[in-house]
Amino acid sequence: MKAEITVLAGDGIGPEITEHALKVLKAIEKKYDHDFILNDALFGGIAIDETGDPFPEETKDLCKQSDAVLLGAVGGPKWSDPKAKTRPEKGLLDMRSDLGVYANLRQIKTYPQLIDNSPIENSRLEGIDILFVRELIGGIYFGDKERSDDYAKDVCEYSSFEIERIVKVAADLSIKRKNKLTSVDKANVMATSQLWRSVTTSLIESEYPSIEMEHLLVDAATMHLLSRPADFDVIVAENLFGDILTDEASMLTGSIGMIPSASLGDNNFGVYEPIHGSAPDIQGKGLANPCGMILSVAMMLKHSLQLVQESNEIENAVESVLNDGMFTADLSSDHHVSTDEMGTAILTKII
Ligand SMILES: NC(=O)c1ccc[n+]([C@@H]2O[C@H](COP(=O)([O-])OP(=O)(O)OC[C@H]3O[C@@H](n4cnc5c(N)ncnc54)[C@H](O)[C@@H]3O)[C@@H](O)[C@H]2O)c1
Repeated sequence: MKAEITVLAGDGIGPEITEHALKVLKAIEKKYDHDFILNDALFGGIAIDETGDPFPEETKDLCKQSDAVLLGAVGGPKWSDPKAKTRPEKGLLDMRSDLGVYANLRQIKTYPQLIDNSPIENSRLEGIDILFVRELIGGIYFGDKERSDDYAKDVCEYSSFEIERIVKVAADLSIKRKNKLTSVDKANVMATSQLWRSVTTSLIESEYPSIEMEHLLVDAATMHLLSRPADFDVIVAENLFGDILTDEASMLTGSIGMIPSASLGDNNFGVYEPIHGSAPDIQGKGLANPCGMILSVAMMLKHSLQLVQESNEIENAVESVLNDGMFTADLSSDHHVSTDEMGTAILTKII
């Protein structure tokens, strides 16, 4: 198959992990005789340095004409001055909104090889495989804002269209998995959550009657995620709640460095990135775990390019390297390998 992919390596450890993800992608291209056209573009802090804009027009145009976007990470102390005109993270919000990627998928899976690395008791971790579906371009992050020295306001808005659109994505994924869906809201207090719950309930009852549906208040959900994580299958939540819950859930796996994500729009278009940030504290030290980025390539192959076998091959390669006892520093405090050694080991399983 022929596909055009925009590559945004970004800042911090972004370029280090992207390098390995691209090697894996090229190995898959060669092995399965595909034609992947890769276009590098500026994004984040490096784009501010060169153009003054974290998401320059040229990058936007390239993203829009491609089948998918691969993103490393953005941000860092160099661009963190609160008085600065713009920040790399603004590029992230602009990109999600401009590209219309409204559904963020994050898969939280425990690997038996990493179970000792989690702060949660081992017996609760077996068999965890949760797919979070987070609404990405609505809610409080995108609402009206006001800020002065003694007053601040963030408005949270959702329409039934936005809610139905994201819950449909979650429901369609649920029926391909365990037919079990948990919707998270704060319907005892928030008007947007009351609408969220009523739209979700009527959609599932009318169009997905076979799905076992559960509603949880977000405060209870934070507790249930730690006390009974293996009970969950697909969890759908609005932007803010999904952001917080997915970072909490990442600790179940033992390291944020293991988790990929997909942000999907219409027509199979998607932006794929690890869930972690630019990790400036470990930049250039060979300590970055490339697995979340490499697994993001696997998600891209599956969701945007429908190359399921190729995607599975990458997931199996990562699992096999863990089985061989190879861990980056975030996965093992005593014996660990470097970013390059981990990336090369995964690549070797594919070639
Ligand atoms: N999507 C994104 O690009 C994104 C997401 C979150 C944060 N950020 C930005 O990244 C910068 C740093 O943020 P932060 O420190 O809060 O979060 P972070 O995710 O960058 O780092 C948190 C901790 O996890 C570690 N870590 C992260 N990824 C790792 C990996 N692949 N391998 C090993 N260890 C890893 C880091 O060393 C750090 O100790 C900030 O500027 C923030 O705004 C960007």
